[in-house]
Amino acid sequence: MGQKLTLSVIKADVGGFVGHCGVHPDLLEEARRMLAGCDLLVDFHVTSVGDDINLIMTHRRGTDAEEIHRLAWDVFVACTGLARERKLYGAGQDLLKDAFSGNVRGMGPGVAEMEFEERESEPVVVFMADKTEPGAWNYPLFKVFGDPFNTIGLVIDPKLHGGFRFEVHDLIEHRAVDFVLPEEMYDLLVFIGAPGRFAIKSIYSRQTGWIAATSSTQKLNLLAGRYVGKDDPVCVVRCQSGFPAVGEVLEPFAMPHLVAGWMRGSHQGPLMPVAQRDAHPTRFDGPPRVVALGFQLANGRLLGPQDFFADPGYDRARQIALEVADYLRRHGPFEPHRLGLDQMEYTTLPQVMEKLRDRFRAVD
Ligand code: 13P
Ligand code: 13P
Ligand code: MG
Ligand code: MG
Repeated sequence: MGQKLTLSVIKADVGGFVGHCGVHPDLLEEARRMLAGCDLLVDFHVTSVGDDINLIMTHRRGTDAEEIHRLAWDVFVACTGLARERKLYGAGQDLLKDAFSGNVRGMGPGVAEMEFEERESEPVVVFMADKTEPGAWNYPLFKVFGDPFNTIGLVIDPKLHGGFRFEVHDLIEHRAVDFVLPEEMYDLLVFIGAPGRFAIKSIYSRQTGWIAATSSTQKLNLLAGRYVGKDDPVCVVRCQSGFPAVGEVLEPFAMPHLVAGWMRGSHQGPLMPVAQRDAHPTRFDGPPRVVALGFQLANGRLLGPQDFFADPGYDRARQIALEVADYLRRHGPFEPHRLGLDQMEYTTLPQVMEKLRDRFRAVD
């Protein structure tokens, strides 16, 4: 076709079943029905991770296309209606605005979109997490595109050897900054090592300029000005032939690194890689989890998914995650299991602080 393809992943929590643990099947059915009945898309796949609905869509309208965003918004509004009828938990949780105004960015849903020429073979991985924040992708994305101990291709594949450019967003000050690796690795790590504030938005090959990865970076609580749930981010990564291999892209998740989220969005916990069927966080509303679905794109068609973390190769990561979960849980309300005060400002604490404000007296 020669025409560029856009891969859009747009997600929202519009009501949990039961509590914050899953999505009611009626909502997924409605989302599928609506996307199937629309002629804007080349293909789509509807799925859920925890209580978040993920719309994985291919089309030819580019990123930030109003009609695609409107379609996703309409799906989430319709699903919110079903959630309300069923009195599902937190119906409409992530829809922060009443009316659509051209783009779902800033309205609550998470968006990861990229436009590219489909290569001769185009393997992609869609990562979807529940009970955590966008900065959760910093560690694995750095490992995949910046660390030769993870990605041997950076060393031995001439197509990767030129390195990658990382676009980082400051989620509090709303600024962006680029770093080129390997030269600026230490500078990059100064920022992305603070995932509550800085998140990797996109990554580009320096040799081809092609986009390699992109993630959703909305901060729900900052948008809403109160605690409404965690962001539960998504991330899309292109693989092979000039990009890291599928196995290199999945490898960082063998280490269940600590992320912010879990119960009431207020705790550190291990990010546990799981199969889609196991993506229902229940223990203390967690632990936070991540699903990786693989697709081969064929003229925009989504062949798949391949449910990567169903692999027993990730059993040990799950075991470590559970051991870390046990250890952290024993801290109860104490940091560092509970988030530090600066991060709690964006979660559930401010109202309690406000109530007690007058009880504080000065000491010498
Ligand atoms: P409520 O029980 O007041 O809705 O808040 C808790 C919550 O939803 C976090 O799990
Ligand atoms: P979600 O962000 O997945 O809705 O979870 C909210 C929460 O408070 C869980 O305890
Ligand atoms: Mg929820
Ligand atoms: Mg969620």
